[in-house]
Amino acid sequence: MNKPSNNEPQLREHVYDGIQEYDQKLPNWWLFTLYITIVWFVIHWAVYYQGHVGRTDEQRLDDHLKVIADARAKELENVTDDKLWELSQDPTTVEAGKQTFLTTCAACHAPDLSATLAGAKLPGLPLKDKEWKHGGNPLDVLHIVRKGAPDITKGMVAWEGALGVKRITEVVAFIMSHHKKGEPFTLAADSPKKAGAAAPATVK
Ligand code: HEC
Repeated sequence: MNKPSNNEPQLREHVYDGIQEYDQKLPNWWLFTLYITIVWFVIHWAVYYQGHVGRTDEQRLDDHLKVIADARAKELENVTDDKLWELSQDPTTVEAGKQTFLTTCAACHAPDLSATLAGAKLPGLPLKDKEWKHGGNPLDVLHIVRKGAPDITKGMVAWEGALGVKRITEVVAFIMSHHKKGEPFTLAADSPKKAGAAAPATVK
């Protein structure tokens, strides 16, 4: 057997299960990439993790979340009971809200807001009667849809993250389009709002 030159890949002596191995020099470009990543690791570790230069992913995430929260707060700044009553009379907004309601809320509150389907009681509460558990002013309804019911294990979770302010406003306008501004409503017997104020409230 000829001794292979240094540049040629050399076969190693051992054979396992009939398989032989080359002992080949790694290409320089590969080796240099490895060395550069090692050097880069040391610099990065020293500067970023030890020197705390630059902002961490967590800080950047917090900044982004703050921007989103601020934008939401700004969008909600002008949302008042009156504004929501007004939107509940606007056919385009109500139609958009209806679409969201049918896809997102109807499973528990029923397409006709009665919270019953073919005689069976659904998990949600009726939304077109005059009795509310969490308050019947548009802003009360908006609050529950944004933040969820206090006990979310019942199924009414916070929808703000999934739907965003615009769609939630639309869906509330759709719900309020089944009500009239100024109509009296009662608080349900198990309403958390009831403590102290038992007198029937009136829609603002
Ligand atoms: C998984 C079932 C479920 C889904 C889906 C759901 N809800 Fe609810 N919802 C509930 C339950 C249960 C309650 C009652 C919570 C309680 O008892 O505090 C409730 C309560 C409410 C209330 C307060 C009613 C009151 O009497 O004060 C409103 C308003 C409401 N939901 C609107 C919505 C809207 C709008 C959507 C869609 C974006 C939605 N819900 C989706 C289960 C659901």
